[in-house]
Amino acid sequence: MSLDALQTSPLIGNDPVPEEVIERIARARGSLGNQLLILGHHYQRDEVIQFADIRGDSLALAMKARDAAGVRHVVFCGVHFMAETADMLTPDDVKVILPDMRAGCSMADMADIDQVEIAWDVLTDATDERIIPITYINSTAALKAFCGRHGGAVCTSSNARSIVEWAFRQGDKVLFFPDQHLGRNTCHALGIPLDDMVVYDPHDPHEMTGGNDPAEYARRKVILWRGHCSVHTNFMENHPDIMRQRYPGIKVLVHPECRFEVVQKADVVGSTSRIIETVRNAPAGTKWAIGTEHHLVNRLAQEHPDQFVSTLAPFACQCSTMFRISAEALADRLEELTEGVERNVIPVDPETTRWGLIALDRMLSMRD
Ligand code: 13P
Ligand code: SF4
Repeated sequence: MSLDALQTSPLIGNDPVPEEVIERIARARGSLGNQLLILGHHYQRDEVIQFADIRGDSLALAMKARDAAGVRHVVFCGVHFMAETADMLTPDDVKVILPDMRAGCSMADMADIDQVEIAWDVLTDATDERIIPITYINSTAALKAFCGRHGGAVCTSSNARSIVEWAFRQGDKVLFFPDQHLGRNTCHALGIPLDDMVVYDPHDPHEMTGGNDPAEYARRKVILWRGHCSVHTNFMENHPDIMRQRYPGIKVLVHPECRFEVVQKADVVGSTSRIIETVRNAPAGTKWAIGTEHHLVNRLAQEHPDQFVSTLAPFACQCSTMFRISAEALADRLEELTEGVERNVIPVDPETTRWGLIALDRMLSMRD
């Protein structure tokens, strides 16, 4: 398929929702009333996001979950770590439901608590300096609890900068997981040279020291976890050049989960909400090459026909796990609730919640 054809291709997976499914959702919502809150992340397909009471990026949705009053069920149209975060932030009697349990996040799966505990031993053996652990919100509840226990915090793509600044006021070094790109991009934007950063590889097969001489951990300021987003790493260093050559004057707008080389070439870098705001506030005729998930890019193209909006890559970068949520699955879960059946509840145990909340509260008490 030609580049032109791809960049104007119809939405992937946005088939019209059958009337019967729309009616089932409307009936169930009517009967559940204000006790139900449906949250939707910006990467959800149109067929799903249209039913969300609130749309948002990870930070906004976490705050909406925390502030929801009188709600008994939060149905999270997003991925597993988002639902876990919502469960920790809501009162005990609020149940958080993920419409399809297959909606995980490949990045969150790249760091588990056992690996992080091993890494912590390696790092704290290597240096007497104080290390502050920062976990991207795209991580399991156990990792958030780890940060709570060890004086660290959670961050999202929209507040990573202020959280890292905070961390350097608390200690000497930062361990940033699981996304090396967000960590590197954020620290570099704060003026930390790349040479002050080192990547810890949890799969180091040899000495179990993360793939480096432990002296490196004593020497560098930032230890980045070897993890990445399988969607955003598809944007390559030459994509901004290709788009600028092809569409003179085009602006490159990317999510900070993209590779360092791509972020360095971007005009604007930001969370999904920042990407949306940037396009919304631009004058007619602006041209954009956007490095983020395909459904969001296509929605922006549809909502702003007076601008030219294209994906940055010459192919569609889709989050296959966000895509697992369908209107049918949403209808099924809502109908079950009307019958008193709670399926796909995402529970976080009380001890993990206690410590995870400490790390989340540190983040939520700091605003950009
Ligand atoms: P935002 O916090 O920017 O919405 O990003 C979430 C995410 O999973 C990006 O891949
Ligand atoms: Fe996870 Fe990447 Fe999908 Fe975001 S886009 S949910 S980081 S796999």
